[in-house]
Amino acid sequence: MNKIQLGLIGYGYWGPNFARVISESATCALKFCADVSEKSLDRAKKKYPSLITTKDYRDILSDNDIKAVIIVTPTKTHYQVARECILAKKHVFIEKPLCHDVKEAEELIALAQDNNVKLMVGHVFLFNSAVKFIKDQIDHGHIGRLRHLHFQRRNLGPIRQDVNVLWDLSPHDISMALHFIGQRPLSVIASGESFLQKGIHDVVSASLKFPNNIMVNMIFSWIDPVKVRDIAIVGENKMILFDDVAQSERVKIFNKNANIIKNTLDVNFGEYQISMHSGDILVPAIDSKEPLKEEFNHFIDCVVGDKKPFTDGENGLEVVRIISAIQRSLDQNSTLVKL
Ligand SMILES: NC(=O)c1ccc[n+]([C@@H]2O[C@H](COP(=O)([O-])OP(=O)(O)OC[C@H]3O[C@@H](n4cnc5c(N)ncnc54)[C@H](O)[C@@H]3O)[C@@H](O)[C@H]2O)c1
Repeated sequence: MNKIQLGLIGYGYWGPNFARVISESATCALKFCADVSEKSLDRAKKKYPSLITTKDYRDILSDNDIKAVIIVTPTKTHYQVARECILAKKHVFIEKPLCHDVKEAEELIALAQDNNVKLMVGHVFLFNSAVKFIKDQIDHGHIGRLRHLHFQRRNLGPIRQDVNVLWDLSPHDISMALHFIGQRPLSVIASGESFLQKGIHDVVSASLKFPNNIMVNMIFSWIDPVKVRDIAIVGENKMILFDDVAQSERVKIFNKNANIIKNTLDVNFGEYQISMHSGDILVPAIDSKEPLKEEFNHFIDCVVGDKKPFTDGENGLEVVRIISAIQRSLDQNSTLVKL
């Protein structure tokens, strides 16, 4: 069987992970790697000597053997690179976020439809077994009605220059929040600071209000002492913690809750009671499939089987829409922005 020929655009920090995943694939082969940096191309060529390297990604687009491209360039370049790839009728996998502007995201979706190519966005956490497990718990009602969710994504670096910490880190958490809750937020409010580079926020915190009084808080920072990637999900019946940097026991389900046991209507102050329940902690066994591999295989399945990607352009647009609203709140001194 002939392998599906692919091109990789961007071989910086994250691109090499795709080169590895493709090199381990039974059905795909990486033919090209494009990067504007000679150093990056040298690294790629050293690792994969049969790779054709180029400084101009358009060389990939003019090769008829290439069925799809993986774009792993800085966020601000996404729109232009993806647009040209789609116009050249290549299926496109693009790293998160889809792009840096709602209108541009809409245009990419329309272009992909017109040119009959797949457009998939790298919201890799939706391919993470722990996230799938948590979603299943929520959907089966084990947690009860969702109350509030906290997301923390903090570390020292890497510090980007093309986008702020919000655009860099929040796509992961926003994509998960949308996935868990299954609805779009009603409003957002944010605050942040630029300590290192003028106009580029290093620390951002955002509060998102969802329908049914679900409250979501997120903090993103690339100047923090230790790497923290955790999520707390609080429901009426149970609570879940997902610590993505823990060596073991990454997901814990706490049989804990706090609920009013008597309706406050028609009762006096003495009768009003809150029950606090603190039961067992369950540590579920979760498989250790590599999320990036799962994500890549899904993209290839969609290309080969003409299927709609789970994290398609629309999904990517939804995330860009919410980040843009949070950015607007930052730009307007923490005003509430409705969606
Ligand atoms: N899914 C994840 O967990 C994850 C992790 C890191 C980065 N990312 C995403 O991957 C993308 C790249 O991030 P990175 O950390 O690898 O950045 P990076 O800056 O380390 O690498 C980007 C590479 O793209 C090259 N490049 C820039 N413009 C180009 C162009 N026009 N044509 C060809 N090459 C070009 C640069 O020379 C560089 O080698 C970003 O969108 C980022 O959000 C995702």
